[in-house]
Amino acid sequence: MKVTIITGASSGIGEAFAKRLAGENHNLLLIARSETKLKTICEELKQLYKIEAQYIAIDLSQPGADEQVFKETQKRNLQVNWLINNAGIGSAGDFVKLDLQSEFNLIQLNIATLVGLTQRYLKIMREDNGGTIINVGSVASFTPTPFQATYAASKAFVRSFTEAIIAENLPYKIRFLLVCPGLTESKFFENGSMSEQDKQTLSHGFKFQTPEDVVNEAMVGLHKGKTKVISGFRNRLLVAALYFFPNAMIVKMGAKGFRPNFQPIE
Ligand SMILES: NC(=O)c1ccc[n+]([C@@H]2O[C@H](COP(=O)([O-])OP(=O)(O)OC[C@H]3O[C@@H](n4cnc5c(N)ncnc54)[C@H](OP(=O)(O)O)[C@@H]3O)[C@@H](O)[C@H]2O)c1
Repeated sequence: MKVTIITGASSGIGEAFAKRLAGENHNLLLIARSETKLKTICEELKQLYKIEAQYIAIDLSQPGADEQVFKETQKRNLQVNWLINNAGIGSAGDFVKLDLQSEFNLIQLNIATLVGLTQRYLKIMREDNGGTIINVGSVASFTPTPFQATYAASKAFVRSFTEAIIAENLPYKIRFLLVCPGLTESKFFENGSMSEQDKQTLSHGFKFQTPEDVVNEAMVGLHKGKTKVISGFRNRLLVAALYFFPNAMIVKMGAKGFRPNFQPIE
C-alpha cells in the first residue's frame, strides 16, 4: 500500500498536513511521540475520509530512530511515496544557560533524523522514479538568530540541505518542497520553553498564521511546481528585507530585542 509519512503529526502543522492530505485521499503513516493523540487522529481521519491511517509512536530525537521507522515501514509492507519531514522542536534562551542534552536532542531531531529519513526514502523514490518530499524549515533559517542560536542554525541546515538535494535530483521525477513558516499558532512555543513574553517579542504584535494557512500555502506552491514556499506575506517581506541589510547588523538588532528577556540586568 502507498502511504504518506508525516512526522510530527500529533499537533500543529503536521496535524494540519494529515487532515489536508487525508481529504485528498492519501493513506497516512503518522509519526510522533504521543500515542494517544496519534491514535485519535488516525481514527478520526479513517472515519471521515475512508482512507487508511496508521501511526508509529517513537521519539525521533533518539539516534537510530530513522532506521527504526524505515524498518517498520518495510515490515508493514508500506510503499512510502510521500515523506513530510515536519517534526521539529525549538529552544530559546541564553545559550550558555540552556540544557545541553536538550540542545543535542534538538539537533538530532531537526537535522539528523530528517537527513536519515530523506536518504532512506529518497533511495526508494529514485528506484521508483517518483515521489514527493516536503521538508519543513523556518524563516529563522535565513539569518542567525541570537537567543535561538541552535534552533535557527538547525533550520539553516534544513534549508541548505534541502536546496542542495533538490538540485542533485533534478534528473529524477521527484518533487521536493521546502516550506519555511514564520510565526504559527501551535504548541511549538511551549514545547520550546518560550514564554508568552518571548512570543510577544518575536511577533512585534503581528498576527500569527494558523497551521492550516501554512499547509494551504505549501500545497498551492507544490501544485504550482515551486520548490520553496515562505508562508505568509509578512514573512516573505521580512526575508526579502534581510537582503538589504548587512548580516552583522541584523544579528545585533535581534540580540538587542531579546536581551531583556534572556539576559536581564541583575
Ligand atoms: N510554530 C511556529 O511558529 C513555527 C515556525 C517556523 C517553523 N516551524 C516548524 O514547523 C514544524 C512543526 O512545528 P509546529 O509549529 O507544528 O509545532 P508543534 O505543534 O509543537 O508540533 C511539533 C510536532 O513534532 C512532534 N515532535 C516533537 N518532538 C518530537 C520527538 N522527539 N519525536 C517525535 N516527534 C516529535 C510533536 O509531537 P509529540 O510531542 O507527540 O512527539 C508534534 O507532533 C517544526 O519543524 C517547527 O520547527 C514552526
